[in-house]
Amino acid sequence: MEGGLKLKNPVAVNQELEGEVFYPSPEVVKEARIKDWKAVDELAVRDLEGFWAKEAEELDWYRKWDKVLDDSQKPFFKWFTGAKTNIIHNCLDRYQKTARQNKLALIWVGEPGDVRTYSYFGLNREVNQFANVLKAMGVKKGDRVTIYMPRIPEIVIAMLASAKIGAVHSVVYGGFSVDALQGRIDDSESRVVITADGGWMNGKVVELKKTVDEAVKRCPTVETVIVVKRTRQDVKMEAGRDYWYSDLMKLPIANGKCQTEVMDAEDPLYILYTSGTTGKPKAVVHVHGGYMVGIYSTLKNVFDLQDQDRWWCAADPGWVTGHSYIVYGPLLAGATSFMYEGAPTYPYPNRWWSLVEKYGISVLYTAPTAIRGLMRFGESWPNRHDLSSLRLLGSVGEPINPEAWKWYYRVIGKDKCPVMDTWWQTETGMFMVTPTPVVPLKPGSATRPYFGIEAEVVDEQGNPTPDDQEGYLVLTRPWPAMLRTIYKDPDRYVRQYWSKYPGKYLTGDSAKRDKDGYFWIIGRTDDVIKVSGYRLGTAEVESALVSHPAVAEAAAIGLPHEIKGQAIHAYCILRAGHSPSPELAEELRQHVGTHMGPIARPEQITFVDKLPKTRSGKIMRRVLKARAQGLPEGDVTTLEE
Ligand code: WTA
Repeated sequence: MEGGLKLKNPVAVNQELEGEVFYPSPEVVKEARIKDWKAVDELAVRDLEGFWAKEAEELDWYRKWDKVLDDSQKPFFKWFTGAKTNIIHNCLDRYQKTARQNKLALIWVGEPGDVRTYSYFGLNREVNQFANVLKAMGVKKGDRVTIYMPRIPEIVIAMLASAKIGAVHSVVYGGFSVDALQGRIDDSESRVVITADGGWMNGKVVELKKTVDEAVKRCPTVETVIVVKRTRQDVKMEAGRDYWYSDLMKLPIANGKCQTEVMDAEDPLYILYTSGTTGKPKAVVHVHGGYMVGIYSTLKNVFDLQDQDRWWCAADPGWVTGHSYIVYGPLLAGATSFMYEGAPTYPYPNRWWSLVEKYGISVLYTAPTAIRGLMRFGESWPNRHDLSSLRLLGSVGEPINPEAWKWYYRVIGKDKCPVMDTWWQTETGMFMVTPTPVVPLKPGSATRPYFGIEAEVVDEQGNPTPDDQEGYLVLTRPWPAMLRTIYKDPDRYVRQYWSKYPGKYLTGDSAKRDKDGYFWIIGRTDDVIKVSGYRLGTAEVESALVSHPAVAEAAAIGLPHEIKGQAIHAYCILRAGHSPSPELAEELRQHVGTHMGPIARPEQITFVDKLPKTRSGKIMRRVLKARAQGLPEGDVTTLEE
């Protein structure tokens, strides 16, 4: 226990908790929207539909629902059936002609230092204009639109404009490369791709348009590419296919008024590709109604957003964290959101802290990998800045080690900002296991399920494990922001999430629950690797490797890494005529980077003569992992070697 950190507060909690606990200060409790979280939790557990109906009533609907939860076709749950809405109505439309239209919706800073701000009025207008452009390009309700962009305001505008007209966006993270982009455009059958000439990262231009050109060569469905001018280097524009965003926005069709499409609550809002257990990445489907209610409720209650807040979710809009808590959530909450284009350490390791000071950020939400990365540079960088505007901190994407948690709490939060460690997934859409500001915290634990959420840790047979014993994390009740299905593959939805334990949603994570009911997430139990919080599949890395002429077979695994959490290690069997060398290893690393994206570049490549396989020929990654770490190999009775 570190001296002086334990602030006991009998108002918030009357129970003595085990282990190292950080209780909320009286100031935090005084400010908190929900003071008695246990009472709300009990209510939500007792009356799940009542709780969600109450949250939903805080938003606007064109038509109210007939039923809050329809579980007649489980696991294809439906929420707010019969209701008519559009998430954009609640993000933008309803604020127009009210005082809120003059509030800042977005403050954006580019890596080179340029700044842009959008009021709710201004953002709405630009979204309307671009929505009209998309319509003029022939985009209709239900059509998929691929968005592949840097962290600039236009990515937000493109997503919102697509949702406004009832199209389904498919955002591909700008750090991905040709193969990843091509596979995702192809699967979604997008006719329109929205991109930029490039983006700034670490003082260099990431050449997005070049990647799009390569990818689109192999995507027969693409008719139109819309390009935002950001970095202004020369790019090739193909006549009849490629258009500059700025040119289109000057046309008479791009007027500032646009009717918002009326959607069913269960109509799709977006698809988002994510890595799972098998080969091809799959797209998770999220909808307008329930998703809107889920992210609105969680952002409001977990980060307790108030009118005066300046919220910074330092993720990328290309991942679910950005979808839910950069783009949609803050607008639903009517908040002021901050977004920064570039790297946290560019040009110096104080960039983030100078932004917190300069823009008066009050809530900062980021990933453990970023905290560990910045921690490495020492306290003097943050200590040069006035960080007193901060009142809450957040963490997401991977387990946060207690050392990083405490550094974040002490050095950034100055011992006064509770850390909201939020556990959730692309599939869940919203925070699932998370504290609220008044919940006593244990560093490294995401604490307790959110209101109305029920989680369990079970063994192989599905029986709850005893306290402190590792098992599979499952969710036992539906929630409004849950994925509805896998795009074009409903069987896979049932198989992957609902089959191991019928009636329970399988998260793919292992976890423990302690005596106090606190959850401790351990990590993935499948072939998903979390590199710097980014979700990657071993299969995609392996297929990039075998696409190189020298590689016959490959296996990729995640091994612990001090900063990244996990790093990719790959094992390759070479084809006849190729021999192992450090140069070839480097070439293969670069090859994966070029095809998949720099985040997928393996940390290390090891050349081997054979791979541990089951008799049916499946690579036993578990065995590779154990060997690499000098751990016991476990049950190897199926091993063929
Ligand atoms: C991991 C990111 C521990 C987990 C929102 C999950 C976490 C996967 C946490 C989903 C956390 C996310 N503590 N682990 N607070 N948050 N994870 O789909 O393994 O990119 O299954 O969604 O990230 O990753 P995804």
